[in-house]
Amino acid sequence: MSAVVIVGAQFGDEGKGKVTNFLAAKADMVVRHQGGANAGHTVVVEDRTFKLHLIPSGILYPNKISVIANGVVVDPEDLVTEMDYLLSQGITLDGLRISTQAHLVMPYHKRLDALQEGRRGDARIGTTLRGIGPAYMDKAGRTGIRVGQLKSPAEFRELVHQQAADKNRIFVEAGEEPEDPDAMADRYLSLGERLLPYLVNTPALINDALDHEENVLFEGAQGSLLDIDHGTYPYVTSSHPVAGGACIGAGVGPTRIDQVYGVLKAYTSRVGDGPFPTELAGSLAHEIRERGQEYGTTTGRPRRVGWLDGVALRQAARVNGMTGVAITRLDVLDGLPTLQIATRYRYPDGSVSADLPEDVSTLALAEPEYAITPGWDAPTTGARRLEDLPAAARHYLDRIGEITGVPVVMVSVGAERARTIVTGSLF
Ligand code: IMP
Repeated sequence: MSAVVIVGAQFGDEGKGKVTNFLAAKADMVVRHQGGANAGHTVVVEDRTFKLHLIPSGILYPNKISVIANGVVVDPEDLVTEMDYLLSQGITLDGLRISTQAHLVMPYHKRLDALQEGRRGDARIGTTLRGIGPAYMDKAGRTGIRVGQLKSPAEFRELVHQQAADKNRIFVEAGEEPEDPDAMADRYLSLGERLLPYLVNTPALINDALDHEENVLFEGAQGSLLDIDHGTYPYVTSSHPVAGGACIGAGVGPTRIDQVYGVLKAYTSRVGDGPFPTELAGSLAHEIRERGQEYGTTTGRPRRVGWLDGVALRQAARVNGMTGVAITRLDVLDGLPTLQIATRYRYPDGSVSADLPEDVSTLALAEPEYAITPGWDAPTTGARRLEDLPAAARHYLDRIGEITGVPVVMVSVGAERARTIVTGSLF
């Protein structure tokens, strides 16, 4: 039996989709346990590229169970669109399972997201505007509506009325149109018809699978530095992308998790606002962005890019209890003369630290100290074993292993499944 958690070790967009898809081949079940349609997972299967937001990439394989677990916030508009997209691509949804306990993202959550971002002005978070924060606020405030409530139309309509009355006060005060609760309830109940066949008790389903020694892969969304507790608060998402989030968001105990693989890009990217100590500007940033096609899968926004941040990675390795790292996009660095890895932060008062500071205002003052390592000329995309890589590339990977204190288990040198170097036993 093996339960493997895949987490993002940076600010999201680390290439988790590729790593998850690679491991999904050996999994019986793939579980999404946090976040919502803010995520965008690009998965290349043979010569076809799929962009998924809510449905785990296990769906691309026949005979696997793909679970949207209780910790996810589900926007039925997005989910039904994604289901139709997959069906139009000839993908069967027979393996899909959705938690009755997952919370719904309602139309007013998306509007509140936009309203809150507008009010923040220059202090905006740069959210994906998918209603994620407001949906989790309602969940924590115990005013959320759960997917399972779509099974009881009268009760659901009543809850929508209660919530609309509350939210409409905010919209009217802001000079905006109020929501029509009946139109909203009608629309969601009709979308709900499409979801009902897939609703199950997912914690029971997942625990049963583990009891039967099945391989279960927990597919994280976003990244550790966007975690609401361990990230760069308040420039974070509203869920727990760290490995512990898999336990809560899927309903499994920590003792059941066997491996935690942190996925990290060979450089860093961030989409949205907030401090980014190793951020690059100018022509080098442009070159890396274009080579890596660093544009958001969900929003199309250009991503900010920078050097690898060893301080942040070390913290990510710790808070996730990583047992291995998977490094993606090594090929994007091919041909750069030198590479830099931040090893410590220096502050204006002269102090130096190898730990990520607890607050974002201190992080904003951090000046990274870099270790400079040589680049490599030869393309890495053809490498299938570590020995095929240039010595400087191997040295770079070794440095990452040293900094995180975790063995490198996989290296990705291109989007396609075959462009992968496996350096450890993965399941
Ligand atoms: P939210 O999750 O839409 O509330 O956005 C909060 C922050 O998380 C913003 O900086 C977003 O850009 C970032 N974010 C959310 N989802 C993703 C993702 O899947 N990849 C990268 N960044 C994300």
